[in-house]
Amino acid sequence: MSLINTNKHIVIIAHSLAEFQSALKNYTTSESIIGLVPTMGALHEGHASLIRSAKESCDFVIVTVFVNPTQFNNAEDLSAYPKTEKQDVELLKSLACDLVFFPSYEDIYPSDYKFPGINLGFLDQTMEGSLRPGHFQGVCQVVYRLFQLTKPTKAFFGLKDFQQVSVIQYMTNHFQLPIEIIPCKTSRNENGLALSSRNLRLSETQKTEALILHKTLIQAYKNAFSLTPLEVKKNAEQTILESPLKLEYVEVVNPITLENLEDKWCSNARMCIVAYAGEVRLIDNMEIRE
Ligand code: PAF
Repeated sequence: MSLINTNKHIVIIAHSLAEFQSALKNYTTSESIIGLVPTMGALHEGHASLIRSAKESCDFVIVTVFVNPTQFNNAEDLSAYPKTEKQDVELLKSLACDLVFFPSYEDIYPSDYKFPGINLGFLDQTMEGSLRPGHFQGVCQVVYRLFQLTKPTKAFFGLKDFQQVSVIQYMTNHFQLPIEIIPCKTSRNENGLALSSRNLRLSETQKTEALILHKTLIQAYKNAFSLTPLEVKKNAEQTILESPLKLEYVEVVNPITLENLEDKWCSNARMCIVAYAGEVRLIDNMEIRE
């Protein structure tokens, strides 16, 4: 275990489960409000904003950094996933995070550990679920285990992965876990591009092209005052098809069930978009009806 004293604050870095558990025991009590920000590393301003939110409402903030193999359905994606531990630790120091845990595969998946499994129903059959079979089972498997190890009061997730937040909320309710799931607003750059570690792979031209996503979402928000969900979706599809991006899908969905909306609006209806700029898969979403 290493303790980094940043003048004002001590950041504890744990590289094994034993170190992590001893830090948790020594630095928290049963009264502590523990905030968890689970990540896969390659941290950027989007993660920083989750950590800031956690710092605002929790006494003790844990960040986990684990690239979870069970949520990747493509071995190349997994091996290409950036590992930037040094920079991550620097950022976490600057954010005065309390405990950082870099678990090993065996810490997360010891041979005697078995995830109870969960039937996610339609949440896993639409959008990312239908395109990435097994992805959300893998996300539930790792998040369930991280919840078990960290016992957080609150857990913070970015709304950029809107479907992931819906799945995690569903899992938390399903297992009646006493954890408050806090969805956090998508962080964007000054032009509206949703922050993602994948943005590093975009050329300057592609960065400009990628702004179409945010513009399309804003237009959808405006259109939602006068058009049906299906009409708003068709308009958005058209905009992206006419742009340099390659459209994968646009859906207008009920924010809880993720069912597609066609004729009637529901509160907090959401538009979810996925499109490619070159080889880079971009994902974005926005609430388009209050
Ligand atoms: O959003 C992510 O980075 C991952 O899916 C998560 C929640 C850390 C689980 O591996």
